[in-house]
Amino acid sequence: MPKKAENLGVRRVQSSREMIDHSDHEHKLIIAIDGPAGAGKSTIASRLARKLGYVNLESGAMYRALALRAIEKDASFDDEATLVKLAEESRIQLEPTRDGNRTLLNGHDVSARIRERDVTEAASRVSVHPRVREWMVAHQREMGAGGGVVMEGRDIGTKVFPDADLKIFLDADPVVREQRRMEQQKIKGEVAASVAAELRDRDHRDRTRAASPLVAAEDAVVIDSTKLGEDEVLARVEELARKKLGQ
Ligand code: DC
Repeated sequence: MPKKAENLGVRRVQSSREMIDHSDHEHKLIIAIDGPAGAGKSTIASRLARKLGYVNLESGAMYRALALRAIEKDASFDDEATLVKLAEESRIQLEPTRDGNRTLLNGHDVSARIRERDVTEAASRVSVHPRVREWMVAHQREMGAGGGVVMEGRDIGTKVFPDADLKIFLDADPVVREQRRMEQQKIKGEVAASVAAELRDRDHRDRTRAASPLVAAEDAVVIDSTKLGEDEVLARVEELARKKLGQ
């Protein structure tokens, strides 16, 4: 098994498993959290994972790591075949740790680099390609298969884990999402306006792409966080998860 995971270029590190309650009788859930950027997915997913002793896997970081590889290799974001080849040749690793997630690309910690604007834009573009998505989905399934995971992204409940135990679709008014992003990044004025415009473009691309567009799964619980605080959203999601666990 370790050999197989290594071949696939993705691993869930041992340290992440240590966070999990290993009592055999307990069913470990697969929890999918999908939604647009700025709806609060990452924060909720990581806080929920912590509460349940689960691993938080951020699927977007994998698209970002591939985008970074494409930038490094000067590959076109429209060249699907080259992007798939780059994915196959790269080692993209997600390391969920107690202090947050680390993303490694070919052994280098790129966690901060992949949040920069050029990578953010590139990730949105590389993620439209069906074959890139196929590669990602296969690896994400591999990582989450054992359960005890909160995986967040855009297509987790629809494509990666259509049989997930719990599916949340976290949404919020676009203006509120943009404001949250501005506050998060502590930006104002013209920069803020262009970042907001980019967020709208990425949103549009996510929702309208032919392959796995961003959409709530039919059986997802839709939570609109426009008027809800982070703690309130977390409380709702945690309650749903505990119900599934029979607690
Ligand atoms: O969640 P994020 O902003 O880190 O995601 C980066 C990009 O990857 C985003 O433009 C959408 C895409 N993505 C995707 O298409 N499917 C996922 N499951 C996760 C992210």
